[in-house]
This record gives sequence, structure tokens and C-alpha cells, in this order.
Amino acid sequence: MSLRLPAVCSFVAILTLTASAFAADKPNWRDGRKVFKQCGSCHTFKSGEHRFGPSLSGFYGRKAGTAPDFTYSEGMKAKNAEGLVWGTESLNTFLTSPKAFVRKTKMSFKGLASEKDRRNVIAYIKRRSKR
Ligand code: HEC
Repeated sequence: MSLRLPAVCSFVAILTLTASAFAADKPNWRDGRKVFKQCGSCHTFKSGEHRFGPSLSGFYGRKAGTAPDFTYSEGMKAKNAEGLVWGTESLNTFLTSPKAFVRKTKMSFKGLASEKDRRNVIAYIKRRSKR
């Protein structure tokens, strides 16, 4: 038994290290809230409250271009017709370069170059959209 103890200890140490490495990689919605400062002039999370951009209330997991009473660009309507649904991966592509992903989009935002910023802001808007 005493011989096994070091093995158990190093196993636990590896588990702990792995867990902390995952924690570092996990998107952090609190950091995402800071990134969202770049979006907040155009978007709210209040249902039906549109600014220059549509309200993001309930948008996560829904088809693109479906906030009631918002007039989307032809490009976003086309994405809707193609069946695009907003999830982590589609948002990651859209937020990298909105113009590249949605032809002639009305969202005049250059995009977020940092993958970390994108992951964090997606975690934040996912969380907020559900309330
Ligand atoms: C200058 C204003 C503006 C900024 C800044 C902006 N957006 Fe937008 N956003 C829009 C507009 C306008 C649309 C509708 C686009 C269209 O119809 O092509 C839109 C669409 C969206 C959609 C799709 C919504 C739907 O109902 O399908 C998401 C998600 C989104 N924006 C997230 C963001 C995030 C996250 C940021 C910040 C990183 C951001 N936007 C920054 C104006 C903006």
C-alpha cells in the first residue's frame, strides 16, 4: 500500500493540473461582459428593444434574423432562409468578420480579431439572451 501512494499522489497531481488547464481555456462570461461594451451601443437584451441592431433577447439557439419587428439586411434574410441557427460556432464565424459571413450585413462592426474575446463574449451573450 505504502508503495502505491506516490503513484496515487502523482495521479491526483495530474488531474489537478489538467483541471486547471481546462479552467484557463474555458470561456469566461465575466470577461465577455467587458468585450460586450463594443456591442452595447447597438444591442440590448430587452425583448423588443432594438437599437441600431436587434434585441438579443432569446436569440441564442434561434434561427438568424428572427427578432420580431426588426428589419434585417437581405444578407441576413438569406442566412435565415439557409437555416442558419445561432450557436457557439456560427457566432464565432460571424463575429470574426460580420461582413465576410453575412453579405452586405447592416452590422457595421469590423469584427473581433481575438479568439479569446470572441469565446468570452459568446459565453456572455448566450447567458444574457436566456434571461
Ligand atoms: C454599429 C452597430 C452594431 C454593433 C457595434 C454590433 N452590432 Fe450586432 N448587429 C447590428 C445590426 C444592424 C444587426 C442586423 C444585421 C443584418 O441585418 O445584417 C446585427 C446583428 C447581430 C446578431 C444577429 C441577431 C439576429 O437576430 O439574428 C448578433 C448575434 C449580433 N449582432 C451580435 C453582436 C455582438 C456580439 C457585437 C459586439 C461584438 C455586435 N453585434 C456589435 C448592429 C451592431
